[in-house]
Amino acid sequence: MAIEVRRVAGGFAAEVLGADPARDADFPDIHRAFLDHGVIVIRAQAQTPLAPEAQIAFSGRFGPLMGRRPSTPDKVLMPGHPEIILLSNRRVKGEKVGISDAGRYWHSDLCFEEKPNLGTVVHAVEIPPEGGDTLFADLEGAYAALPDDLKARIEGKRAAHTFRKHYLEVMAEGSDRPPLTPEQIDALAETYHPIARTHPETGRKTLFINPGHTTHVEGLGAAESRDLLDALYAVCLAPEHIYRHKWRVGDTVVWDNRRVMHNAEPYDMARYTRHMHRCSIHGDKPF
Ligand code: SIN
Repeated sequence: MAIEVRRVAGGFAAEVLGADPARDADFPDIHRAFLDHGVIVIRAQAQTPLAPEAQIAFSGRFGPLMGRRPSTPDKVLMPGHPEIILLSNRRVKGEKVGISDAGRYWHSDLCFEEKPNLGTVVHAVEIPPEGGDTLFADLEGAYAALPDDLKARIEGKRAAHTFRKHYLEVMAEGSDRPPLTPEQIDALAETYHPIARTHPETGRKTLFINPGHTTHVEGLGAAESRDLLDALYAVCLAPEHIYRHKWRVGDTVVWDNRRVMHNAEPYDMARYTRHMHRCSIHGDKPF
C-alpha cells in the first residue's frame, strides 16, 4: 500500500496512512512527514500493541534514545526496556507502574537539558473513552505569525528552562508520582536556550519556549520578562496553531519537540485506564 500523508483539517499535523513503524522501508517517508508537519499520527497496525522492541527500533531511527534521565524516576521505566517510560495509571499488584499525571501543562519534553529532546514517540495501548486528549501547539507557525516588533524584541535573546519548578509544584499539589532522589533534583539546574531557534534539520526558525519549564528571559527584569513571554504565548496558543489529538488504541504519534509544545488533558482516573509507551530521542544544543 502506498504511503499517503494527509494534513489534519485546518492544522499543521498530519496522518501518515499506509505506513508501519515496524517496517524499515517506510521510514524515509515517515521521517519526511515528521519534518514537514511536526506532529505525525500513524494509526493501528495489524500488530497492536506495537512490540516494545519495534517501538525502540523505530524511535532509534530518528536519533539516539535518551534513556534514563535525572527528571525521571526509575520506577516508571518499562521493566526490561528502560528506553520506554510508561505513561499510565495502571496498577500491578496494587503498585502504580507509570506516571499517571505526566505532561498536563504546556511544555516541550526535556527542554531544560543542555541538549533537549529531538522528538517523542508515544504508542497508545489503552485509552479512556473520554478525556486524555493531547494538545499540540505549532511554534514554527507561531514564529512566522509574530508581528515584527515582537520578533525584534526576541532577537538574540535566550530564556531559562528548568524542570525543578514544575516538579516541586506537582509534588506540593499531591501528585502520586514516584519521588525523585535529592541527587536527581540537584541535577535539574537551569539551562539557557535561544528563544527563537533554527531547526537543525529544516533550517526554519521556530520559537523554543513553553509555560511549563521556561522561567524567564535572560537579562530582563521580572515584569518585562513576564510581559514578553505572555505576548509570545498568546500567539503560540491561538487556535490556528493548535492540534488536538484524540487518541485511538494503536496510535503511534511522533512529535518534534524542537518545534511544538504539548499538553496532555486529564481524564477520570478513578473510572478509566490510560496506558501509553513513550520513547524520547536525543537532540542537539539549540542555536
Ligand atoms: C507527555 O509526554 O508529556 C505526556 C503526553 C501524553 O500523555 O499525552
